[in-house]
Amino acid sequence: MATATATATAPSRPKVRHTECFVGGKWIPAASGKTFDTLDPATEEPIAQVAEGDGEDVDAAVRAARDALESGPWSKMDARDRGRLMNKLADLIEEESEELAALETYDNGKPIRDARAADLPLTIDCLRYYAGFADKIQGETIPVRGNYFTYTRREPVGVVGQIIPWNFPMLMAAWKWGPALAAGCTVVMKPAEQTPLTCLRMARLAQKAGIPDGVINVIPGYGPTAGASIVKHPGVDKIAFTGEYKTAQIIMRDAAPTLKRLTFELGGKSPNIVFADSDLDAAVAGAHFGLYFNQGQCCCAGSRVFVESKIYDKFIQKLADINAKRKIGDPFDPETEQGPQVDKAQFDKIMHYIDLGKKEGAKCVTGGKRVGSKGYFIEPTLFTDVTDNMSIAKDEIFGPVMNVLRFKDTEDIVQRANNTFYGLAAAVWTRDVGKAHALAKAIKAGTIWINCYDVFDAAAPFGGYKMSGMGRELGYKGLEAYLETKTVTVALA
Ligand code: NAI
Ligand code: MG
Repeated sequence: MATATATATAPSRPKVRHTECFVGGKWIPAASGKTFDTLDPATEEPIAQVAEGDGEDVDAAVRAARDALESGPWSKMDARDRGRLMNKLADLIEEESEELAALETYDNGKPIRDARAADLPLTIDCLRYYAGFADKIQGETIPVRGNYFTYTRREPVGVVGQIIPWNFPMLMAAWKWGPALAAGCTVVMKPAEQTPLTCLRMARLAQKAGIPDGVINVIPGYGPTAGASIVKHPGVDKIAFTGEYKTAQIIMRDAAPTLKRLTFELGGKSPNIVFADSDLDAAVAGAHFGLYFNQGQCCCAGSRVFVESKIYDKFIQKLADINAKRKIGDPFDPETEQGPQVDKAQFDKIMHYIDLGKKEGAKCVTGGKRVGSKGYFIEPTLFTDVTDNMSIAKDEIFGPVMNVLRFKDTEDIVQRANNTFYGLAAAVWTRDVGKAHALAKAIKAGTIWINCYDVFDAAAPFGGYKMSGMGRELGYKGLEAYLETKTVTVALA
């Protein structure tokens, strides 16, 4: 019952409006007639049957995207009007943000408070940020030898295939549509099979905003079929992918015959380094948030927490206290801080690593068990006495499992922090400014947070060193991945 003081209400499970492929502005079943179930991870019950797109559907989507790119209204539209339509899409998402947040919670299992506070505002902000770029994409005039005038044009890279994961479904769509639309590209997107629903709704809102048919096409389906068809299609110019590095390796091979442009945003095993001279309470809160946020399903999760020996015991105690208070349960309850993992495969993978951690001799201080018997809920798990060579310290677990390691001094920690084939993010907690910046320079990662964690902004480039990725998303860097450079030289009279 609503009270005068209630600020956040529990939404009910929303109605699902779109389950088909979105091609050339039309909703169509998969050519094969096949469908797959998308499940509610909190109850394990099916939510809806969704079209299982495949090669034939991808082919139709690529043709629609090609037409929109080369002959449709998109190709003739002034850049400023492209930006206006993108802003309109952001406005429509904002108007519908309560329903979209609930749909995201339903399909993914994330707490409604996170969907409301993070996924929706970041999605809207990203589209508005890139809308502002649409009419500010400029070439250069270049001084060359001889009596010539040389200039460059920045042109859309073309039809882009965008393959996204399930951990932030709407936000990943916005990170990919934003720069693509600003650049004037057209899109064939494959949402993750676990979470296709919000992407399909966003496609409808894009149409309502006036983005011409064929500019955005969405083919729900599985990776090795729908995903691989996009990657191999000769009519696709670029692939933007977020997911596992092993999938990126397959995509790289499949894209080789057509030499597609590739950008990858992959996983991590990010070090979160806490020095004895830090603000301890802030560091504890940052470590907790940096790992357990989104059920631990973040590419940049601070999954190797290195704590200086002097404060190690105190740090663990404080962390265990916060873990004990973490509220797990119904993701639609606005008080809930942790929902279920996205599916059974992820649940099983995480439970396997929890077993492995125990076998390898790490100490399980909190959690370690499933919560309840329905839904993929796992207790916030804290391992201490973790050493660098344990599997739990090396592999991406992608769940609510924190590993805390000890360190003695700065030199030791730089080498250990870099001792991974990943390089997505890192954080440093210290009051010593010089030390903080020295570590920011020494650590090989695409993002370094100092005295904070998971601070994202549409303007700040994000991506990985080493096997955490190729290229950058967000910011102007992210836009450039969607542009070709054409050089034009004119002989002067
Ligand atoms: P995945 O990399 O297999 O899936 C991501 C996307 O790629 C999905 O849309 C999927 O359908 C598609 N895909 C899969 N195989 C493909 C192929 N051969 N060609 C084209 N597209 C393909 O990741 P998955 O299986 O969902 O999760 C496995 C692990 O990957 C997780 O446990 C986690 O460690 C990591 N992961 C990392 C993410 C990140 O944000 N960097 C996001 C999701 C998963
Ligand atoms: Mg996979």
